[in-house]
Amino acid sequence: MSVVEKAIRKLQESQAAPGEAPTPASSQAAGAAQAPAQTAQQTVTAPVPGAAPARRPAIVIERGTLRAAGLLPPEQDMAQLSRQYRKIKHPLMAQAVGRGVPRAPKGYLIMIASAMSGEGKSFTAMNLALSLSLEKDVRVLLVDADVAKPQLSQVLGLAKTPGLLDALRDVTVDVESLIVPTDVATLSFLPAGVGAEEATELLSSNRMERLTTLLGQRDSSRIVVFDSPPLLQTTESTALVRVAGQIVLVVRAETTPQPVVLDALKMLEGHPGVSLVLNQSTRAVAQSYYNYSYGGDRGGRAESGTT
Ligand SMILES: Nc1ncnc2c1ncn2[C@@H]1O[C@H](COP(=O)(O)OP(=O)(O)O)[C@@H](O)[C@H]1O
Ligand SMILES: [Mg+2]
Repeated sequence: MSVVEKAIRKLQESQAAPGEAPTPASSQAAGAAQAPAQTAQQTVTAPVPGAAPARRPAIVIERGTLRAAGLLPPEQDMAQLSRQYRKIKHPLMAQAVGRGVPRAPKGYLIMIASAMSGEGKSFTAMNLALSLSLEKDVRVLLVDADVAKPQLSQVLGLAKTPGLLDALRDVTVDVESLIVPTDVATLSFLPAGVGAEEATELLSSNRMERLTTLLGQRDSSRIVVFDSPPLLQTTESTALVRVAGQIVLVVRAETTPQPVVLDALKMLEGHPGVSLVLNQSTRAVAQSYYNYSYGGDRGGRAESGTT
C-alpha cells in the first residue's frame, strides 16, 4: 500500500471510529464577518548597511476581531481548541527546533497547505502560530503567503502594507524591516505585500529560497508558519512546497473529496515532512494529526493523535 493510500485509510478509520462523542462546537465554522484589527500605521524604512533593520510599530492581535473573521472559534470553545493545537504543534515544534528528535532540514519553515480553498489553512496557520508562540525559547513568524487571497493581512489591517512580495521583488529590501511585531512578544507577522500580479514568478524565483534561508539565519529560535494558496487551484504553492521543511496538509473532514486529497498528497510525494490535520470533523477526532515521513532517516513512520 502506498504512503498516500495509507494516509487516506488512516483518515477514513478516524472518521469511522466507534463511540465518538457528537460534534464539539469548536469544530464548527465560526462567523466570517470581516473586520479590520486595530493596527498602527506602518512605515517602510530603507535598510542602512550594517545597521539592524528598523522595527515596524507593533500591531495588536485583537481576539474579538480574529473571532469575527472566523480565525478563532467562539470563546466557549477556546479551551478545547487549545488542547487540540497543543497536540498538533508538539511534533512540528520538535522537528523545527530539534527538541527530543533530530532537527529536520529547514524544519523551522512550516507550510500550512490544503488541496482547495476553504479547508481551514488560514484558521490553522493563525491558531498554530498563536499556540507555538506560547512555547518557551521559540519565536514565531507568521507569513501570509496566500498572496492572491491575503486573508490574514486583511484581518490584521495590513492588506496594503509591503511584505513578502515586496521583499521578493526588490533584493535591496531587507525582509526583516517588513516584519511587523505584535503585542504577543514572541509572535510577529509578515504581510503578503502589494502587487500580486507577478506573484507566481516572484514566489517561484530563487529569491524565495534565499529569502526563507535569510529568515532562518536571522534567529535560530524562529519558527516560520506560512499560510499558503491552495495546492490544486494555484501554481504559487509549488514554490512553497520546495522551500518548506515541514508541510501540514489541512483536510476538511467530510467535505474534501477523497480523490482531491489524493491529488494533493501526490503533489507532496517525496517531501520528507508531511503531516495531515483533519479539520472541522463532526466527530470528536476533530483536528486529528498524522505525521507521514517519506524516506531518509525519518522514513516509514506514522503517528496519529486524536483529541
Ligand atoms: N477548526 C475550525 N473550527 C471552526 N471553524 C473553522 C475551523 N477551520 C476552519 N474554519 C472556518 O472555515 C472557513 C474556511 O477556513 P479558512 O481558514 O479561511 O480556509 P482557507 O484558508 O483554507 O481558505 C472559515 O470561515 C473558518 O472560520
Ligand atoms: Mg485562507
